[in-house]
Amino acid sequence: MEKVKNIIIVIFGASGDLAKRKLMPAIYMLYKEKRLPLSFAIVGVSRTPYSDKEYRNYMKKNFTSYLDPEEIGDNVEVDKFIDHLYYHAMDPAESNGYKGLNSYLRELDETVACNGNYLYYLATPPSLYGVIPQHLKLVHLNENEGTIGKKRIIVEKPFGFDLQSAYELNKIYRSVFNEEQIFRIDHFLGKETVQSILAFRFANSIFEPLWNRNYVDYVEVTAVENMGIENRGGFFDQTGTLRDMVQNHLLQLLALMAMEPPVAFDAKSFRDEVLKVYNSLIPLKDTDLREHIVRGQYMTSERGLGYREEKNVDSQSRTETYIAMRLELNSWRWKDVPFYIRTGKQMPTKVSEIVIHFKSTPQQLFGYEQGQSPKANKLVLRIQPNEGVLLRFGTKVPGAGFDIHEVEMDFNYKDFNNIPTEDAYSRLIEDCMLGDPTLFTRSDAVEASWKFFSPVIDYWKKHPEAPLYGYPAGSWGPQESEAMMTEHHAEWTNPCKNLTKTDLYCEL
Ligand code: BG6
Repeated sequence: MEKVKNIIIVIFGASGDLAKRKLMPAIYMLYKEKRLPLSFAIVGVSRTPYSDKEYRNYMKKNFTSYLDPEEIGDNVEVDKFIDHLYYHAMDPAESNGYKGLNSYLRELDETVACNGNYLYYLATPPSLYGVIPQHLKLVHLNENEGTIGKKRIIVEKPFGFDLQSAYELNKIYRSVFNEEQIFRIDHFLGKETVQSILAFRFANSIFEPLWNRNYVDYVEVTAVENMGIENRGGFFDQTGTLRDMVQNHLLQLLALMAMEPPVAFDAKSFRDEVLKVYNSLIPLKDTDLREHIVRGQYMTSERGLGYREEKNVDSQSRTETYIAMRLELNSWRWKDVPFYIRTGKQMPTKVSEIVIHFKSTPQQLFGYEQGQSPKANKLVLRIQPNEGVLLRFGTKVPGAGFDIHEVEMDFNYKDFNNIPTEDAYSRLIEDCMLGDPTLFTRSDAVEASWKFFSPVIDYWKKHPEAPLYGYPAGSWGPQESEAMMTEHHAEWTNPCKNLTKTDLYCEL
């Protein structure tokens, strides 16, 4: 496999939550697994006036608390890693600091010997996503230098806050970088089990013939969490669940579930197919906006504070922390198959999974055990936790008669050679350093997904009276989301309720 070349990683937003919680642990794991070059530097950039030493101490204390002791390993190793950290204090919003940043990087480059090979990571508030690239351009920090001195930029989601802003942001990025230099990250795509959806579908021949409207009744895509917004109130109250989770992570999962096989597994072919799914989403009509979207907000319960009581959240806030919605695709394969997606904070448990409900048998030949009713086959692709695949089917109850009992066939990734599932950020940061954009979102896909979701945002803006249902923290969300599904005789798979094996990760 190709190796990463000497590099300086510049993290904008270096004293923020993402840097210590996700980025530094991910880069440390790459370091520990010897997937970084011998010579590299990480430069933290933000306004806080740290010295190198202070930043190193701050990071060491913080990032290690997000790793297990086995992941951290030897303390000496941590210290050696920390020696690669530097800090440059400046306000990334102000253009006048960039000349200094340029000189700083050029000087450090002499030590690292990376010939201008820089990766910029924007872990800042979204309001800076458009500003930083333009300032980098002012001092030519956007320009590739020869074959080694690549300049690449990773931008966090949400990329834009509606179609117009995403369009303008793309325009800015295109005026500063080539598309090959831009890496719009959606960390769900870096998850091993999300990538495995592709393997499950396209490395096996037995599922593909069933993967269509003839056999599939409906599909659920769930990514719920048992925590609240933690200390991200300021960001979250401006953003909401639609922008934070649905427009990106959930749509990405839906795309992997619904896409056609790409002609080859390369960046262009794969991303072309994702785009086709987004373009096939049937635009939401006014009735859909009213009846096929349920938004909720968690309220105080024994489990914890309500959303409006959280730090930095407006006490009258109407920002949603839960969304369930029904989507349909205008495609030969999926015509009339509803896709139900949902995500929420402060749910009973953390789980991300796709559940494919197959159609029932045309004839009911057998009886069912007491308390059981005929159930159609169900296939669960579990993304996290207890990563695996589960198939539910009926079998005969041993003995007299001919009653059917529902059983599960369960594959768990942990049984697979004990290979730990890799951290999503490690995988994606490495891909970016190697210049592989396959698992990042292309500009046209960002715009296509906003094209679909912008009407929802506009509708809520125009209709402030549109329902926002309260749900007790620790519950499965507003009951209205169950009602939305009964129209299709569908129901949500709540792990604690329906799947015995998945009870393992239920915390109720
Ligand atoms: C992030 C969202 O992108 O994904 C967070 O901003 C959310 O609100 C997180 O908690 C969930 O990711 P994961 O990998 O923990 O499921």
